[in-house]
Amino acid sequence: MLSLFILLTADMQMNRLPSIIPAPQSIEVGDGFFEIDGRTTLHVAPEFDRVASMLRSYLAPATGFTFEKIESVALNQIGIALDANLADEGYRLVVSENRIDISAKSAVGAFYAIQTLRQLLPPQVFESERQEVSWKVPTCAIEDSPRFSWRGSHLDVARHFMPKEFVLRYIDLLALHKFNVLQLHLTDDQGWRIEIKKYPKLTEIGAFRKDTMLTYSPKTYEGKPHGGFYTQEDIREIVAYAKDRFVTVVPEIEMPGHSQAAIAAYPELGNTGKQLDVAVDWGVNENVFNVEDSTIQFLQNVLDEVLELFPSPFIHIGGDECPKTQWQQSERAQARMKELGLANENELQSWFIKQMDDFLTKRGRRLVGWSEILEGGLAPGATLMVWLGDEGAMEAVSSGHDVVMAQTTHTYFDYYQSEDTSKEPHAIGGLLPLSKVYEYNPILPQMSREQSKHVLGVQFQVWTEYIRTPSQVEYMVFPRACALAEVAWSPIEKRNYDDFMQRLHKHIERLDVLRVNYRPLQSPGAS
Ligand code: ACM
Repeated sequence: MLSLFILLTADMQMNRLPSIIPAPQSIEVGDGFFEIDGRTTLHVAPEFDRVASMLRSYLAPATGFTFEKIESVALNQIGIALDANLADEGYRLVVSENRIDISAKSAVGAFYAIQTLRQLLPPQVFESERQEVSWKVPTCAIEDSPRFSWRGSHLDVARHFMPKEFVLRYIDLLALHKFNVLQLHLTDDQGWRIEIKKYPKLTEIGAFRKDTMLTYSPKTYEGKPHGGFYTQEDIREIVAYAKDRFVTVVPEIEMPGHSQAAIAAYPELGNTGKQLDVAVDWGVNENVFNVEDSTIQFLQNVLDEVLELFPSPFIHIGGDECPKTQWQQSERAQARMKELGLANENELQSWFIKQMDDFLTKRGRRLVGWSEILEGGLAPGATLMVWLGDEGAMEAVSSGHDVVMAQTTHTYFDYYQSEDTSKEPHAIGGLLPLSKVYEYNPILPQMSREQSKHVLGVQFQVWTEYIRTPSQVEYMVFPRACALAEVAWSPIEKRNYDDFMQRLHKHIERLDVLRVNYRPLQSPGAS
């Protein structure tokens, strides 16, 4: 292979290297190019038929070419072949002057090779209409596979409902950056966003609120209702669209806290018997589910429908920020605690989560929950999504549980992007500049080799209390997601912020073509 390429010095490589984000494991660049034209054909092993259709759907609109599939190997061709020796999600991509050869162990690797190939082409390839451009691809040889298997993005569609069309566009943007998990935060105090056939009031009542808080201090309000939900048909469409792009949609159904919208719809799920409204204010909320068997049954019936819709091996049950005040004050909850032989309310919460863990495990799924599910004891099958500090991660991995790292310090994309907040849209607070995202290492120095195997990966969070539109989601997510993509995918030895920034300057030309409302790199107050 080396003979095909002129070896370049490190400096020359830096300038000539195509701007691929996330950076591949290894890349060698030649000094020639392959040009895709109207006669370029495809030669594809049968297992890659669907991926080849994706390739065509990516390249056809801007190039105007048809990419005919032929049975024989030929010059001026893009080939996709099987190589069982490559890593699970890995690929090899070799561009010579005559052809492009992709090899992968399975469709997902070939899909990632195609994402890389898109980034080797001129940025106009991302246009949806035909462009008069010469479609040159630099000669190169790339070997690539991801560092982590969970490359996640979380989107809160409960605080502000995001239309289905945006979720689909967002999945495309995630796939381009080789993310493979979209965790949809579907339920919270301020809205229930998924149709459940058995309990129609969850959306009839729970999907709509009377008002929206605009600022916390002083408290100001929008003065109009907000709402929306996904029908089961919408969910099926989102899940299928994501599957074609190798993104797993992980549903998050919050319990026992963050549940006021459900209690507003069905007051018997609460502790006080009061008729509540769907919440309008943000914050940690005392209205939580009660601990009756009937409530556990209700939620498991909800999960039955959720499991039908989402093939994801992981189901997120929230578990964060559940104040114990109402359980302390409720005679019924106190009697339940005694009846179950539990010492305190933390154990009661742990018991609640264990009911869900048993339920999911019996159905061949895995429970994942936020840091607080550690309190009172971690359920046997649980995976911990760590947002509250490294101690929790250490406790989980030491006892053989898997973790996904989602710390506020490096992955909360609802935080401000620069210190000069006067130049930024109103946000929840915090500060998480691009450079800090880039620094993140989800493997902690205090983890042993064995423990670090329990780190499935990393995820960024988009809580939408103050993120009110799809365009604002894009502003908060990009370019920080580009940095996190590299944290999740690229080998840590290759991480170099200056090099990343050079590539990012080119990469944003692609985001421009895609009309992504990213935060400009040079904006005033940029850090
Ligand atoms: C969280 O930020 N409450 C998980």
